[in-house]
Amino acid sequence: MSNTIYMTLSAVIICLKMSKPPPAEQVVVYKPKGFKMHSLCVNAFREIIDHLQRRLLPFGSEPAYIIRNYRPSDFDKLVRLASEVEKLKQTYSCTSPQDLVESLDLPNHFPEKNLFIAEISGNIAGYVDVVPELNISRAVLSYMLHPEHHRKVLTKRLVECAVNRALKLRIKTIHVNIPQDNRAAKRLFFKMGFKFVRRFLELRLDLSKARLLKINQTASICRCLRRGEEDKLVQVQNLSFANTWGYSPNTTEEIFYRTSLPNCSPEDIILACYADKLIGYCWTKIDSEEDKAISRSKGRIYMLGVIPDHRGKGVGRQLLLAGLSLLKSRGVLTVELTVDIENKTARALYKSIGFEVRTRSLWYEKVPDCSIFIGRGDDKPS
Ligand SMILES: CC(C)(COP(=O)(O)OP(=O)(O)OC[C@H]1O[C@@H](n2cnc3c(N)ncnc32)[C@H](O)[C@@H]1OP(=O)(O)O)[C@@H](O)C(=O)NCCC(=O)NCCS
Repeated sequence: MSNTIYMTLSAVIICLKMSKPPPAEQVVVYKPKGFKMHSLCVNAFREIIDHLQRRLLPFGSEPAYIIRNYRPSDFDKLVRLASEVEKLKQTYSCTSPQDLVESLDLPNHFPEKNLFIAEISGNIAGYVDVVPELNISRAVLSYMLHPEHHRKVLTKRLVECAVNRALKLRIKTIHVNIPQDNRAAKRLFFKMGFKFVRRFLELRLDLSKARLLKINQTASICRCLRRGEEDKLVQVQNLSFANTWGYSPNTTEEIFYRTSLPNCSPEDIILACYADKLIGYCWTKIDSEEDKAISRSKGRIYMLGVIPDHRGKGVGRQLLLAGLSLLKSRGVLTVELTVDIENKTARALYKSIGFEVRTRSLWYEKVPDCSIFIGRGDDKPS
């Protein structure tokens, strides 16, 4: 009996494959429910569903999602989506509205080519963004789907577009960051060939309880960054983070861009010097949320680094304390930061000051097979 079903299904697949492919930009989400079959037939059935999903199907009550490239006119809707998802305080995405906005204009990003929008009835249901780091041949995917539009197939299709785009850019490694408790995302990415590679911790410090010991001023905290010194900061940054997992060396252009953002300025970056040479830095940030009362209360240690020759001498601790004091003086109540669980030195430093683990996130990695394109064989929409 199961053999008959299997053969029938196989015949249907062949017929479907021989028929004309669907229009490139349309995906319809259709989800069968409560269907159980002999395992022999499951794969064949999945293949049919997968194929049907790529076609413009009028059947079923599910609406059609269009996946297409980002256009500058999408900006407002995209930011609205990110704010709504953030307000829901769920674990659907690792990207904050602020991160999203900042990444759109990053030098060498080109969202019109690298960002894919899932649209439904003129509204944005979600997106996936491929942020290329060509100097280390990696791309970081960020994605977001409004909970109302959660469809496994839609996420899968978005990720397929992203992977194909990365292939087109000849990227060797794709990374995606997933909140540890987002089981659905972990399962989906795993099924799509992504493997868990790294665990990061999100730490939080309540500044009113922090052990902000007095800074030993004998050492080298000197001043804030000045405009025109971006190239010096780039050197220190790249030396400090060389060999750090996932670090893509920065450029002066990127530093200039990031320090020119509306919620950033060179004064947010504290420098440590030794005999006039820059040896470390602490980059602080204040969240720019719509609600200013909330935003003022939350700050971030965005980066902290000391060049190898000057480590283990108390410079990192002093920089961190100076950064926290700066945030406190600006009205910040809690400070957050992200640290690799394997970075024992930094974790010991943060713990000694009173940072506690708030949550965890996981990095998944895919090494795309350059010989194939996933899905329809295009990165398109394009
Ligand atoms: C993390 C980093 C900034 C620390 O700077 P540093 O100047 O070496 O740190 P300090 O000398 O002030 O030491 C601060 C604390 O770090 C810990 N630490 C320092 N060196 C350590 C080592 N070799 N092993 C374990 N812990 C160490 C200790 O807890 C130390 O406190 P203590 O001296 O009171 O015991 C530096 O190692 C660095 O730039 N690393 C690469 C970039 C990075 O990982 N940044 C953090 C990203 S989240």
